[in-house]
This record gives sequence, C-alpha cells and structure tokens, in this order.
Amino acid sequence: MKIAMIGTGYVGLVSGVCFSDFGHNVVCVDKDQRKIDMLERGEVPIYEPGLEALMAKNVEAGRLAFTLDLASAIEGAEAVFIAVGTPTRRGDGHADLTYVMAAAEEIARAAKDYVVIVTKSTVPVGTNRKVREVVAAANPELEFDVASNPEFLREGAAIDDFMKPDRVVVGVESDRASKVMSEIYRPLYLRDFPIVTTDLESAEMIKYAANAFLATKITFINEIAALCEKVGADVKQVSKGMGMDNRIGNKFLHAGPGYGGSCFPKDTKALARIGQEHASPMYITEAVIAVNEDMKRRMIEKLQDLCDGSFNGKTIAVLGVTFKPNTDDMRDAPSLTIVPALVGGGAKVRVCDPQGQHEGEALLPGVQWQDDPYDAATGADLIVLLTEWNEFRALDLGKIVESMTRPAMADLRNIYNATVARDAGFVAYDSVGRAGFATSLQDLAKRMAS
Ligand SMILES: NC(=O)c1ccc[n+]([C@@H]2O[C@H](COP(=O)([O-])OP(=O)(O)OC[C@H]3O[C@@H](n4cnc5c(N)ncnc54)[C@H](O)[C@@H]3O)[C@@H](O)[C@H]2O)c1
Repeated sequence: MKIAMIGTGYVGLVSGVCFSDFGHNVVCVDKDQRKIDMLERGEVPIYEPGLEALMAKNVEAGRLAFTLDLASAIEGAEAVFIAVGTPTRRGDGHADLTYVMAAAEEIARAAKDYVVIVTKSTVPVGTNRKVREVVAAANPELEFDVASNPEFLREGAAIDDFMKPDRVVVGVESDRASKVMSEIYRPLYLRDFPIVTTDLESAEMIKYAANAFLATKITFINEIAALCEKVGADVKQVSKGMGMDNRIGNKFLHAGPGYGGSCFPKDTKALARIGQEHASPMYITEAVIAVNEDMKRRMIEKLQDLCDGSFNGKTIAVLGVTFKPNTDDMRDAPSLTIVPALVGGGAKVRVCDPQGQHEGEALLPGVQWQDDPYDAATGADLIVLLTEWNEFRALDLGKIVESMTRPAMADLRNIYNATVARDAGFVAYDSVGRAGFATSLQDLAKRMAS
C-alpha cells in the first residue's frame, strides 16, 4: 500500500517508520525544512530509542522517503494520515485544530483519486466530521472517506508500543475505508493484536478517556502520597498493596512531582473543555488538573524546606528535566515549573539531563548545564532527582556526599530511600509520600566534630 504521513513529530515519524517496516510504501511530509533535511541525511530530529536504525533499514529498502511537498507525497496514496500537533489553544484550554484543518485542506487540494484521510492526532469529538466538511468544501469532486485512528504510543518506548500495541482503535463510516484500514494494520491483525473498530465519535472519545483516566490514576496516587506524609505511611508500600489488586493494576501508581509531557496536560484540559461545551462537566478531570498543579507547588515547598526556607544563594543540582526518561521532550515537564522557581528564588542551578539540553536550553534560562551528575553535585547544597533516567538510578551517593557543600537530597521519583541516604552521609533527604529526615543543627555540629 502507499501511505502518506503528514507531520514527522514524535507520532508521525514513528508511525511512518513502523508502517514502512510493515512493508508499506510510506512518504513522510513536514513543513519544517530543518526536520526534512535531517531526515534526508538519515538523522532523527527527536530522541527515541531504536528509531534511527529502523528508519535507516526502511529507507535502504526503498519503502520510506521524506519530503516537504505534500502534493507529491499523496499522489497515488490509498491513505493519508494527519499526525500534526494539537496543542492547547491559548486562553481557553481547547485543543488547537489549526494544524489539523490546514493539513486537511492541503490534502483536499492535492488529492485526485479516492483516498482515506485518517486523523492520528488527538482531536476532540466531532473533528473528523469537520475534516470531512473541510475536504468536501475544498474539493467537491474528490471521492474520499475519513477515519479516526488515535495513537497510544508512549515516547521512549514508541516503536514497541506501535509494533505490539494493546489495541488499535479505528473509527470508520464505510466498508471501503474499513477495508483500507484493515489492510494497513494487517501485520498486527495477523499476529492477533486487537483492532477495535468503532464509529468516528467513539474512536475520538476513547483517546481522551484513556489519557484522562491515566492522568487521574497518577494524580490519585500523588494525592495519596501527600496524605501518606502526614499520617506516616509509605506510598511505595501503599501503591504496591493497591496495585496487586487485578481490578486496579500496578501501572501508573508511582508517586512523583506531578504528570507532564506532550499529552496528559493538554488532553485533560481539552476533555474538560469538551465537557463544558456540552454542558456535561468533567468534574473528575477538572479536579485532576487542579491537583496536578498543586503537586508541583508542593514539590517547590519541599525543596524550600530542604534549603532551610530560602533558595537565595544556594547551589542546587537538578538531575533530569525531560518529562520522563528516554525522551528529549520537554513539553509541560514539571521541571518547567520547578526549575524557574529555584532560579527566581536566587539559587544557582545546575542541570544535568542525558537528552534534555537541546530542547531545554531555551526553556530554562539562567541555569548552568552539566554533562555529568557528579560535576553538577560538586559544591551543591541540594541535589534534586526530578526525572528517573537510568543514569541516576545507581549513583555513587557516597561520592556525591563528599563533593557537596551541604549534602541534602530531594528524591522526587522515590528512587532511593531515607536509610540509603542517611547511610551515604546525607544530612537531609525527602521524597514523595514517604518519611524523610533532616539532621538538626546540633546533631550536625556533633557529627562534624567527631
Ligand atoms: N507525543 C506523543 O507521545 C503522542 C502520543 C499519542 C498521540 N499524540 C498526538 O499526536 C499528535 C502529534 O503529536 P506529536 O507529539 O507527534 O507532535 P509534534 O509537535 O512532535 O509534531 C507535529 C509535526 O507536524 C508538523 N506539521 C504541522 N502542520 C503540518 C502540515 N500542514 N504539513 C506538514 N507537517 C505539518 C510540524 O512541523 C511537526 O513536525 C498530537 O495530536 C498528539 O496529541 C502524541
């Protein structure tokens, strides 16, 4: 089959590469000259494990190409996927559909023969119908169908998620479109991965409902974590005990500094907005959004406590700024709230992230970037573990303690624990939803003397 993929971001590029690996002929289109130039040189503009090699393999096999020219890409294509961004619209929380509608219009102008226009971007319920109207208005002669095919891949594990999905959701209205979609996903169908076929609205809703539910689960455990701190419980044990219940499951029950990333913040806001527009309030989702904001503020307070009430004049090392490990994506990362609070409070902030610097430099002004976590910690008053990259999971804590001016740790991903930190020589340690400790000035003086 011939497929065109509009947008070569995290979703479009991974989808395009994986479809070509299924054996389809794929042309990926983007408006961004820099991205297309890189892709044509065999370079991947984003950090996604395994993507570069898979891309090279399929380019080599002649099944995958990149272009700025949408018209040439869709010539002869049986399906055109729209995988452009749907960020939060400024001011009202709604998903901004400008890019989706612009792509739909461009497709309409360029298409000549029957084609299925598939929306892969996350879009509010009703968008596929609007896409159909836009295309029909721009090219009344064109024979086409629309289909909704929301994407569920996770950055950092995107190829595996695409190749071995829990399910593929396809919203269609005609048998003809259904056949095209079945053919595209045949390699997965043959390997018994479930394909859920629905109407357009249900497919659109499944994506928002799934993301809002996951954001709710994370936020629920974060709120429980705050209560654990007050009552003396350990949230790690609590989530383990909860997660063993098959009805609950153990995924997305890790307490942390609040969710971030390219999807949960914008999709929860968009769902809340859709609810408001239909006079069917999404009370739970609205609460999740508010609690998540509060979590980030709570983290800043924790850090302040570890700095004796003020960031002013302190040196703080922050390990990890991407919204999660194994991606370079900084969109709505908790670090974008937490780090500016440190800088604004007068701290000298050093940041270390295995992949975050390229994106992060413009987003986090006033920080000093370090390649090595040990260099970042040298002379610091506080070390903050903000993203759980593997590189930070087995640090030589003794070495870090030796190099710090005042060894205190804020472990916002619960990688270590109070005992480990105390044994390593930290004078203060705090995490999320578990007991921390702070050595009193008296004890500290005694320790220094001995
Ligand atoms: N990032 C994720 O993990 C993820 C997961 C599931 C779903 N989604 C959804 O997928 C969609 C895309 O997300 P993303 O993270 O890949 O976005 P992105 O911002 O990384 O990529 C979008 C790309 O589309 C290009 N583009 C915009 N308009 C274009 C046009 N008219 N023609 C050609 N190219 C155009 C942009 O230049 C950009 O490269 C969003 O709706 C998002 O919610 C994202």
